[in-house]
Amino acid sequence: MAGEITLHRGDITQDAEADAIVNAANQSLLGGGGVDGAIHRAAGPALLEECRGLGGCSTGDAKITGAGELPVDHVIHAVGPRWRGGDRGEAELLASCYRRAIELADEHGCARVAFPAISTGVYGYPLAQAAEVALEATRRALDAHPDVREARFWLFDEHAEQVFARALDAA
Ligand code: AR6
Repeated sequence: MAGEITLHRGDITQDAEADAIVNAANQSLLGGGGVDGAIHRAAGPALLEECRGLGGCSTGDAKITGAGELPVDHVIHAVGPRWRGGDRGEAELLASCYRRAIELADEHGCARVAFPAISTGVYGYPLAQAAEVALEATRRALDAHPDVREARFWLFDEHAEQVFARALDAA
């Protein structure tokens, strides 16, 4: 049976039940603001040190590291697209982030994976559209990788949680 999708509100770095936390990174993989900043602060300098060796990452792709001081085994750094109006392949690139993250989780034996709403902050992807893409891509990836048992979406505020809950109901 395929894994489940669950919704959570708050700070993803507090998730101690996940095996891996997904970061909404940029192509440099060298840190930034938003959830990226929070993950690097909570993980400590060892994470940045490991990221320096990765040589960056393309948009729509993801790379995996250890998790420094975070209470999980791995951080999966996914690079979402910047929103540029919606006709520059944004949906496919965003879907690809979730797909690649779940592929990497499976390869590294991570059964529970925590996700932020990639691209919906600094990168400006409209929340309702991002929720639809994220949940559909995740559902498909969980079907294809049954050893990944749970995708745990962390929504930072009540509004984002409601938007994801509606999209999950509609799916
Ligand atoms: N836990 C869960 N969600 C969070 C947290 C947190 N601690 N902090 C923010 N969010 P963003 P992006 C939500 O901007 O749009 C960085 O500088 C936030 O409310 O973190 O993919 C990177 O280095 C929003 O819904 O990521 C890149 O340069 C979501 O996480 C760039 O931002 C994503 O917002 C990536 O932009």
